[in-house]
Amino acid sequence: MSFKLVNVWNPKGGQGKSMIAINLAAAAIEIKLKPLVICQDPQGTSTLYHQGGKLPFEVVSKIPNEKPDANLVIIDYQASDWKVPKGKVLLMPVKPARSQYKTYADAKKRAEAQGKQVITIVTDANHQRADEMATAKKLVEKGAFHVPASGVFSRADSDLVTIFDPSMDRAYKVKERRKEFLQILGAIFTGMLKEGEGLKNVA
Ligand SMILES: Nc1ncnc2c1ncn2[C@@H]1O[C@H](COP(=O)(O)OP(=O)(O)O)[C@@H](O)[C@H]1O
Ligand SMILES: [Mg+2]
Repeated sequence: MSFKLVNVWNPKGGQGKSMIAINLAAAAIEIKLKPLVICQDPQGTSTLYHQGGKLPFEVVSKIPNEKPDANLVIIDYQASDWKVPKGKVLLMPVKPARSQYKTYADAKKRAEAQGKQVITIVTDANHQRADEMATAKKLVEKGAFHVPASGVFSRADSDLVTIFDPSMDRAYKVKERRKEFLQILGAIFTGMLKEGEGLKNVA
């Protein structure tokens, strides 16, 4: 099986890398893809979720030697890793508080200098903070996705499930959040079509 590789990367911790990685994998299942998450940190968040036993996909802590039995491979990078990942597509989650933004901007510049396709996802912007909403708006105007601050993530987190878990079906605004992940997935594969690789690679 050939696969699409997605790197979830931002050297700053706490930006939503693991949250994006596991929920994107869960979104992939909704559209009949077979995802695999590689948690670069063996003590990392996605490994912890996996140990919870309720994820509908595998999480491993090493890049497999053999071609994985998956058609979407998502690597959840750890904080402080400044090395621009291999592979064309980088997903960069960023929380729009000012202190977090600079690391993202520096890292993005580095990645783009190496020809990477960066998809930015603004996570956790607080509607009560005008400065955060202004930064989010600016990024969205430039093509970023926005996954707003939302209680569904803390609820899912306390149960070690993704927001696509059936136990989350009635959670407040979960439909909107799920839709955002499906849209991000769409962008990943549209980007791939632009590169001329075609969807045959994920069939
Ligand atoms: N849009 C969001 N709304 C609410 N909480 C969020 C959102 N995005 C991320 N979080 C929370 O922020 C915290 C850090 O996210 P995490 O994925 O562990 O970051 P990283 O992997 O970049 O260190 C987690 O508790 C996560 O649930
Ligand atoms: Mg993490």
